[in-house]
Amino acid sequence: MRFDVVTLFPAMFAAITEQGITRRAYELGLWSLRTCNPRDFTSDAHRTVDDRPYGGGPGMVMMAEPLALAVETLRRDGGGAQVIALAPGGNPLTDATVRQYAERGASLALVCGRYEGIDQRFLDSCVDEVLSVGDFVMSGGELAAMALIDAVVRQLPGALKDESVDDESFATGLLDGPHYTRPEVWREQSVPQVLLSGHHRDIEAWRRREALQATLSNRPDLLRQARAEGRLTARDESDLRELAQMGAAASRSAA
Ligand SMILES: C[S@@+](CC[C@H](N)C(=O)[O-])C[C@H]1O[C@@H](n2cnc3c(N)ncnc32)[C@H](O)[C@@H]1O
Repeated sequence: MRFDVVTLFPAMFAAITEQGITRRAYELGLWSLRTCNPRDFTSDAHRTVDDRPYGGGPGMVMMAEPLALAVETLRRDGGGAQVIALAPGGNPLTDATVRQYAERGASLALVCGRYEGIDQRFLDSCVDEVLSVGDFVMSGGELAAMALIDAVVRQLPGALKDESVDDESFATGLLDGPHYTRPEVWREQSVPQVLLSGHHRDIEAWRRREALQATLSNRPDLLRQARAEGRLTARDESDLRELAQMGAAASRSAA
């Protein structure tokens, strides 16, 4: 799968080509990366890519023309089947979107903003979708673009060696439950007995219940969605009722 990134800071992307799972997948040829610096598409001596905002106000805005020339160039080179800009105000990036990109495998161009953002006319005319990686503001779109690339790459067949993407958070509609490894007792805290029992069915049932508990506590909105999609069994529903009652009783006794 091909990614083209339009960025003022191409060196940042060594973090994903030179480290971890994304590096291995990169070296296996599962994905490729081209960076395109908007400064290479300027015509003045200072290679200016930003200017003051019309209407006044603080900060600078990225100009449309260098970005448009960058996107046109990478498209001529066969990239950018879909052009995505990163911005805090974009649609939230979700597991479902990530999986769609990985399944389609089409080339993606990612446009990283800096300063106060990007001239709206470029977004309106050259960008297919604007995505946000969360309700917070970073200094630039590079980390957001890398988050998207990392999440998509780990979904590509062959990217993971001995892990599965099918039982991770969101894939089942629930959050992942807790994990434990050696030693069996760490600072007086023991691993739950069931995990030492060797009874696979009991372990699976325990993991499912823990996933339900984590989702109920931290993301009840996901439970509503899982229910609407028919992804909860009768057993899940009865576990959830019990967990909710236990939670209510615990908060009553704490009060
Ligand atoms: C300082 S931010 C601009 C913030 C913008 N003025 C606002 O208030 O929404 C600069 C760039 O960082 C990137 N960025 C910052 N936070 C982001 C987020 N949560 N998701 C995606 N991109 C983000 C965008 O590319 C943005 O153009």
